[in-house]
Amino acid sequence: MAEDRYLTFALTKGRLADKTLSLLEQVGITCEEMKDKNSRKLVFVNEELKLKFFLAKGPDVPTYVEYGAADIGVTGKDILLEEGRRVYEVLDLGFGKCRMCVCGPESARELLQHHERIRVASKYPVIAKDYFYNKKHQTVDIIKLNGSVELGPIVGLPDVIVDIVETGSTLRENGLGVLEEICELSARVIVNQVSMQMESERIREIILRLRKQLEEA
Ligand code: PRP
Repeated sequence: MAEDRYLTFALTKGRLADKTLSLLEQVGITCEEMKDKNSRKLVFVNEELKLKFFLAKGPDVPTYVEYGAADIGVTGKDILLEEGRRVYEVLDLGFGKCRMCVCGPESARELLQHHERIRVASKYPVIAKDYFYNKKHQTVDIIKLNGSVELGPIVGLPDVIVDIVETGSTLRENGLGVLEEICELSARVIVNQVSMQMESERIREIILRLRKQLEEA
């Protein structure tokens, strides 16, 4: 019987994890084991519901889901766009809201308007390339950085950055601002393509319950 098989959730460590777990709890998908903050366990099990959960780094969540190591995943839209994994994106959870933007000093606005060959630094080279090459038809040099990307323009590495803006305070405190908006982001539920067929009933039921809970909230 399908009920005998575990359904596995891959959740994103960090900011999204607590919100995701409390939403799952609201629809009856609980995992007491996960609440023990002292535990060194990596995989948590709810035997009664035949569910497993693990936490992974955001960019790894769609990888686990594409290869079927997890049936369901929750991660940010930024990561889905950057990783381009073959998974079904089934639900926008509405939290973790932020924007992907081109940012920099006000003086860089002109360089963007005149389609100059500028340097763009980002933790998201795929998103940056797609925006400049395919949407703006502007040839730029993309430089991959791994974090604290706001530092780049301040010390003179790139002209602009492509980065996530949530409250905008990191930009403000460093004399930078939003120059162009690329897209809106939030947490999304993704599903493995084979699991969607094989475990259709259980997965659809979970998505339905989550959607209903979000509508009522
Ligand atoms: C993200 C992002 C910005 C900051 C934006 O960084 O890359 O730096 O948050 O938030 P704000 O608009 O509210 O200031 P994160 O904290 O994930 O670290 P990282 O850049 O070092 O990866």
